[in-house]
Amino acid sequence: MTSATAPGKVILCGEHAVVYGQPALAVPVRQVEARAILTEMVEGEHGCIFIHAPDIQFHGWMHEIAPDNPIRKAIQLTLEMIPVQDFPELKLEIRSSIPIASGMGSSAAISIAIIRALSGHFDYLLPPEIQSQIAFEIEKLYHGTPSGIDNTTIAYERPVYFIRGDEPIPFEIGAPFQLIIADSGIASSTSEAVSKVRELWSKDKSRYENLFNQIGSISHSAQRAIKAGQIHLLGSLLNHNQELLKAIGVSTPQLERLIQSARENGALGAKLSGAGLGGNTISLVTDETSEAVLAALHEAGAAGTILTKVEV
Ligand code: PMV
Repeated sequence: MTSATAPGKVILCGEHAVVYGQPALAVPVRQVEARAILTEMVEGEHGCIFIHAPDIQFHGWMHEIAPDNPIRKAIQLTLEMIPVQDFPELKLEIRSSIPIASGMGSSAAISIAIIRALSGHFDYLLPPEIQSQIAFEIEKLYHGTPSGIDNTTIAYERPVYFIRGDEPIPFEIGAPFQLIIADSGIASSTSEAVSKVRELWSKDKSRYENLFNQIGSISHSAQRAIKAGQIHLLGSLLNHNQELLKAIGVSTPQLERLIQSARENGALGAKLSGAGLGGNTISLVTDETSEAVLAALHEAGAAGTILTKVEV
């Protein structure tokens, strides 16, 4: 039996502006994960793989599902990268604790867990760069025109500085820091939020481009602050980013309520994370403030919270 996992991710800053060419930062979230477990079936038919994914109510033989099915594609692309011709029948079980459609990278994590389990099973564990490349091909099946930030952050399991169209850059952090991810309980559609911003941008390009430029500088400064371990500075940058996201038109009263209560209870910074119009907020906390901020977020109506530590 071979088992492999992949974490979730969250965007730290730069969302929306990243669509217009500005940098964004994302970090892995290890408190949630996708897991792929491979078991060899002694009696079965060689070369066949049975997929069992109860969390997404999916069960079936790989060769019987559509060729563009993301799970099938993950298996196929991985097998193409490793020199394995024949193998006993395999059962592939897929589990995930990453909330679906919440901006936490659940699809990329599932692909990467499969890639790791399968290549590891045959002793050809693929390097993060190749894991990320394969997962990016699969992200296209799920999301059409993904930016690539999810597969990179998850494959490298490191903070990533990302500019659309450029090679993403994983980077080192100067000091660990803690974030609370709080779910507003309101579903957020990335494509709807992106279209809304596009419409507003097309009506007032100079104002919007100015906002995007300012967000781009924040991502740049935030990366420097993280590398230098300047957590207080990171907090103010996150707060400033939130003001700009509000000006862009993707914040909501519910998100503002969560952000406000986190700040009032000791968060060093707080903002929405991801597409906005619902979805998640992130709050930068310390050992001293995490409990009070968690309680305040629940009090303010958070549907769920995850406390995560960003290290290495
Ligand atoms: O859906 P999420 O949380 O990964 O965030 C979307 C981020 C946007 O910048 C709004 C869209 C994008 O493709 O980068």
